[in-house]
Amino acid sequence: MQKILVIYYTQTGQLKSALDNTLHPLKENNQIQIDYLEIKTKKAYPYPWSYIEFFDIFPETVHGVPCELEPIQLNKNENYDLIVIGYQPWFLSICVPINSFLQSEEAKSLLNNKPIVTIIACRNMWLGAQEKMKLQLKKLNAKLVGNITFVDRSANLISLITVLAFVLGGIKEKFMGIFPKYGVSDMDLKNNAPIFGNIILNNLQKNNFDGMQQLLIEKDAVIIKPNLMIMEGRGRALFPLYANYISKKGTQGSEKRRTRVRIFGIVLPTAIFILSPIITILSRIAPLLLYKKFEKEIHYYANIHLKDN
Ligand SMILES: Cc1cc2nc3c(=O)[nH]c(=O)nc-3n(C[C@H](O)[C@H](O)[C@H](O)COP(=O)(O)O)c2cc1C
Repeated sequence: MQKILVIYYTQTGQLKSALDNTLHPLKENNQIQIDYLEIKTKKAYPYPWSYIEFFDIFPETVHGVPCELEPIQLNKNENYDLIVIGYQPWFLSICVPINSFLQSEEAKSLLNNKPIVTIIACRNMWLGAQEKMKLQLKKLNAKLVGNITFVDRSANLISLITVLAFVLGGIKEKFMGIFPKYGVSDMDLKNNAPIFGNIILNNLQKNNFDGMQQLLIEKDAVIIKPNLMIMEGRGRALFPLYANYISKKGTQGSEKRRTRVRIFGIVLPTAIFILSPIITILSRIAPLLLYKKFEKEIHYYANIHLKDN
């Protein structure tokens, strides 16, 4: 009997659905036991979010400040053959609940020396969060062996509108009657996810995860678009500066930083709207001129090793 632990956080269930569809082939196998650990915060984050609460969590998310979690109920003596971590990026960083777990004492003992597969379900920007995940796993002496991502496949500006309607308005289906449904498509969940699950199953049965990410990449478990890669790069350079600027006025929930939070809430979507078309054009030209650089970067982000810098 082989044992898998699935650690995850989800607000609306999208991430859990990605996990269930991916792990379906493993669940069907009676030689595999799957345990779940749902990460729950002491104070639940709101859904839908109010405008202020949503943008107010930005500095702590970017800075990786942990929040309080509900006690972790798990048999500490269980020896898992594989650990799956399901998480969402928040503001190009690891979402606060999962990042808080990664900084806990329990994570130190559970993840030590274990092979890890990460499964992400999000809008479309996860590269920065996954870089932070690679670093956290390295600190925990865990070995990342695979990464699978599910994204909203709509154009960037469309999914910017639909994600805001989703997180701030609680509207998933056809916002204003014209926009597509927010989130990961049913086709990706039903058709592609089990293919990834079968790859994990084959490697788990051999107890050897070497080369698994390459097999996942060949089946499109990670798709990296140059325009989103450039856009994220800008965001990742600027976000810590703005997070510092807001934090200087106070901690999460503080009245004193409200004005700066409000400004960020206007500047961020506006900047994406202005920059997105420009970057899309740039991303068509730049790879022609800097082909080798782009190819190298895409290859790096699709893979599981962490560059030293
Ligand atoms: C505070 C917050 C910030 C987010 N930031 C990002 C982001 O940087 N990149 C992204 O692709 N999605 C982002 N999202 C969307 C989430 O990744 C995810 O799609 C959404 O929260 C639903 O997932 P869940 O129901 O599994 O929690 C964000 C969502 C929230 C609530």
